[in-house]
Amino acid sequence: SRAASRARCSASTRSSPSPSPATTSPAPCSRGSSPPSIRAISLADNELSGYIPPAVASCSSLLSLNLSSNRLAGPIPDGIWSLPSLRSLDLSGNSLSGSVPGGFPRSSSLRALDLSRNLFAGGIPADVGEAALLKSLDLGRNFFTGGLPDSLRRLTALRFLGAGSNALAGEVPAWIGEMWSLERLDLSGNRFAGVIPDDIAKCKNLLEADLSRNALTGELPWWVFGLPLQRVSVAGNKLEGWVKVPGDAALALHVLDLSSNAFSGGIPPQITAFAGLQFLNLSSNSISGQLPAGIGGMRLLEVLDVSANTLTGSVPPEIGGAVALRVLRMGDNSLTGRIPAQIGSCSSLVALDLSHNDITGPIPSTLGNLTSLQAVDLSQNKLNGTLPVELSNLPSLHIFDVSHNLLSGNLPNSRFFDNIPDYFLSDNSGLCSSRKNNSCGAVMPKPIVLNPNSSSNPLSQSTPSSPSSKHHKKIILSVSTLIAIAGGAAIAIGVITVTVLNRRVRSAASHPKPAIALSDDYLSQSPENDASSGKLVMFGKGSPEFSTGGHALLNKDCELGRGGFGAVYKTVLRDGQPVAIKKLTVSSLVKSKDDFERQVKVLSKMRHHNIVTLRGFYWTSSLQLLIYDYLPGGNLHKHLHECTEENTLSWMERFDIIIGVARGLMHLHQHGVVHYNLKSSNVLLDSNGEPRVGDYGLASLLPMLDRYVLSSKIQSALGYMAPEFACKTVKITEKCDVYGFGVLALEILTGRRPVEYLEDDVVVLCDLVRSALEEGRLEDCMDPRLCGEFAMEEAIPIIKLGLVCTSQVPSNRPDMGEVLSILEVVRSPQDSPGDEMV
Ligand SMILES: *[C@@H]1O[C@H](CO)[C@@H](O)[C@H](O)[C@H]1NC(C)=O
Ligand SMILES: *[C@@H]1O[C@H](CO)[C@@H](O)[C@H](O)[C@H]1NC(C)=O
Ligand SMILES: *[C@@H]1O[C@H](CO)[C@@H](O)[C@H](O)[C@H]1NC(C)=O
Repeated sequence: SRAASRARCSASTRSSPSPSPATTSPAPCSRGSSPPSIRAISLADNELSGYIPPAVASCSSLLSLNLSSNRLAGPIPDGIWSLPSLRSLDLSGNSLSGSVPGGFPRSSSLRALDLSRNLFAGGIPADVGEAALLKSLDLGRNFFTGGLPDSLRRLTALRFLGAGSNALAGEVPAWIGEMWSLERLDLSGNRFAGVIPDDIAKCKNLLEADLSRNALTGELPWWVFGLPLQRVSVAGNKLEGWVKVPGDAALALHVLDLSSNAFSGGIPPQITAFAGLQFLNLSSNSISGQLPAGIGGMRLLEVLDVSANTLTGSVPPEIGGAVALRVLRMGDNSLTGRIPAQIGSCSSLVALDLSHNDITGPIPSTLGNLTSLQAVDLSQNKLNGTLPVELSNLPSLHIFDVSHNLLSGNLPNSRFFDNIPDYFLSDNSGLCSSRKNNSCGAVMPKPIVLNPNSSSNPLSQSTPSSPSSKHHKKIILSVSTLIAIAGGAAIAIGVITVTVLNRRVRSAASHPKPAIALSDDYLSQSPENDASSGKLVMFGKGSPEFSTGGHALLNKDCELGRGGFGAVYKTVLRDGQPVAIKKLTVSSLVKSKDDFERQVKVLSKMRHHNIVTLRGFYWTSSLQLLIYDYLPGGNLHKHLHECTEENTLSWMERFDIIIGVARGLMHLHQHGVVHYNLKSSNVLLDSNGEPRVGDYGLASLLPMLDRYVLSSKIQSALGYMAPEFACKTVKITEKCDVYGFGVLALEILTGRRPVEYLEDDVVVLCDLVRSALEEGRLEDCMDPRLCGEFAMEEAIPIIKLGLVCTSQVPSNRPDMGEVLSILEVVRSPQDSPGDEMV
C-alpha cells in the first residue's frame, strides 16, 4: 500500500508528500486538486510492493509510466489503455498476474508496451493491434496461452515483437510479413508448430529472429541467408533437411544457431564466406562430412560448436586461421587424424572440446601457447604419447580431461597438474602424477618393468637389463606411483557388477535347487550308455580304480565343498590314497569329449609346489569328474574367516601364503593357463600349511569364454572378479587373475571379506583399503587377530601391491612375475641385490 500511495499521481510529486496511507481514496488526478500536468513517472528498480492503484487510470496527462523491476502484484488496472497521452508503459519485471485486459482504443498513443517478466496468463488481448502506433511490444516471459492475435498484423510500425518464453501455440502466422517494419522478432520458447512461413521475408528490415525452442518442422527457410539478418536462432526445433546457402546470400550474419534439430547433409562450404560470422552452433544435428577448410578464413568467428553430429575427417589445419576463436567444440563426432599443431594459433581459445572422437596421435605442444585456455576436453579418443611439458604454461587452466586415451608418461609440472583430479586422467596407458612425488622416468606405458626377459613385456629392450640394488628401491617407489594411477580408477563398474551379481545370488538363494541326489554307486549304476562309454583316465602313477567296493564314490556325507563349477567330494583310491573329486555341474556346457580331454591334459601338466595336482578325470556325456590330490589343511577361506583368535594364521604364515599363491599363479600363466576363478576358498593348505591353488582353468573346459557363463559360474567369486568381466570391450587375460590376487592379498592381510554386506551398505575391500591408505590410517585395516606381531613397513608395500593389482585397467596391473619379484624384495629388503629379480 505504500507503493500504491506513492504511485498515486499527487503523492508521487516530491513537493507534497502525502501522509495519506489510503489506497482506496479517489485518485487525486480526477479531483483536479493537484497538478494535472505530471507527464512521466518512473519508479523503476525499487522494491515497491502491493497493487498498481486503479486511480492511475485517471492520470490523463501521463505520457510515460515506468514501474519496472519492482515487486508489484495483482492485475493491470482497468482503463489504463484509455489514457489518451500514454506513449510508453513499462511494467516489466514485477509479479503482476491475471489476464491482461483488452480495450485498446483506436486513438491510443502507445508506442512502447513492456509487460515482460510477469505472471500474466490467458490470451494476449485480441485488440492489442488497435494501438497502431506501437513500435515495441514485449510480452515475453509470462504464461500467455493461445496464438498471436490477428490484430497484430495491423502493427505496421512495430519494430520489436517479443513473445518469447510463454506457452503460445499454433502456427507462426504468415501475416507476420505484414508487420514490415519488424527488426527483431522473438517467438522462442513457446509451442509453435508447423513450418516457418516464407512470408517473414517480407520484413525486409529484420535483423534478429529467434524462433528457438518450439516444435517447428520443415526445412530451414531460405530467408535466413537472404535478408540482412544478423542474428538467427532456430535451435531446439524439429527442422530437417540440408542446410542450403544460396549463391546470393546476404552475408550479414553474426550469429547463427541451428543446434538441436535434425539437419543433415554436410556443412555448406559457402557458410565460411560469412566473414562477419561470430557465432555458429550446428551441434546436435545429423550433419556429416568434414569441417570445411574455409573455416580458416573466418577471422571473426568466436564460437564454433559442431558437437554431437556425425562429422568425419580430421580437424583441418586451417583452423589456425580462425584467430578469434574462443570456443571450439567438435566433441561427439567421428573425427579421425591428429590434432593439428596449427591450433596453437587460435590464441584467444578459452574452451576446446574434441572429446568422444577417434582422434589419434599426440597432443600438440603448441597447445601450450594458448594462454587463455581454461577448459580442455580431449577425453575418449585414441591420443597417445605424453602430455607436452608446454602445458604447464597455461595459467588459467581448470579443466583438462584426457581420460580414456592411450596417453602415458609424466604430467607437466604446474599447480594445476599437481592437483589434477584422477578422473581427468583415468583409463590411459600410464599417466604418472608428479603429485605423489614420483616419476615414471622414461615414456613407459607400463611403469613397472622387472623382468627384462619376460616375453609378455613389450618394452624389454628399453629397460635396463641388469637389475641392481638401486633398482630395488625403484620398484618399491613405483608401486606407490602405481597407486596414483590406480587411485582414480572408477570403481563403479566393480560395484555394479557386485550389485548385479549379488542380486543374482539372492534370487538364486530364494529358489534353492534340490540337493543332488547321488546314488550309492553312481559309476556302476549310471545309465547303460554312460557306463559303457565312461572313461576313467589317471595321469602318472596311481591306481586307476576307486576303492568303491560298496561305498559311495560321491557320497554326500563326504562332500567337501561346492563352487561355481561343481561339488567336491572326498574319496579314497584303491591304493589308499585320498583324493578330492570334483563333479562338474556344468556338464551340459562342457566341450566335446576330445576337447575336454585335451584341455584336462593341459591342466594335468600343471605340476607345481603351489598348485593342486590334477590326477585324472572321468568322462561321459552326462557326467564329468576331475580327480585332484586331497589336501588335509582345508581352504584358506576357512582359516581366514572361520577361525578363532588362537589358531589364526600368523604374520609369517600369511606372508608365505601370499608368496606361494603368487608362485602358483605365475606357474599357471607361464604355461598359458588363466585361472579365472581365484578366491580364498580355492586356495588349499597342505599338511605343512603351504598354499596350493586349486580349481584353475576350469572355464577353459566350457565351449567358449562366454562372459555371461563365466560371470554366472564364477559369481561365487564375488569381489575377486576383475571389472573387465563386466565390460564387453576389454579382453579378459591373465590380468584378471592378477586382480583376484590383489584382492586375495588384501583379504589375507585384513582378515576381511572382499565384499561385505552391511544393513544398508556394501563395503568393497579394495575401496576401504585404498581410502585408508589415502588417509594414512592403514594400521586400522590390518587383521586385529594379528595383534600387531608384524612390521608395518613390511605390510604397507604388500597392501600397495594389492591395490596396484586391483587397478581397474588391466594394463595397469603388473604381471605375476613382477608381483613375485616385488614380494621377494619386500620379504628380504637387505638381502643381496638383484638375484631374485627374474
Ligand atoms: C550450442 O547449442 C547447444 C544446444 O542448443 C547448447 O547446449 C550449446 O551450449 C551451444 N554451444 C555454445 C558454444 O553455446
Ligand atoms: C608455439 O609453440 C611452439 C612449440 O611449443 C613454439 O615453437 C612457438 O614458437 C610458439 N609460437 C608462438 C607464437 O608463441
Ligand atoms: C636375459 O636374456 C639375455 C639374452 O637373451 C640373457 O643373456 C640373460 O641371461 C637373461 N637374463 C636372465 C636374468 O635370465
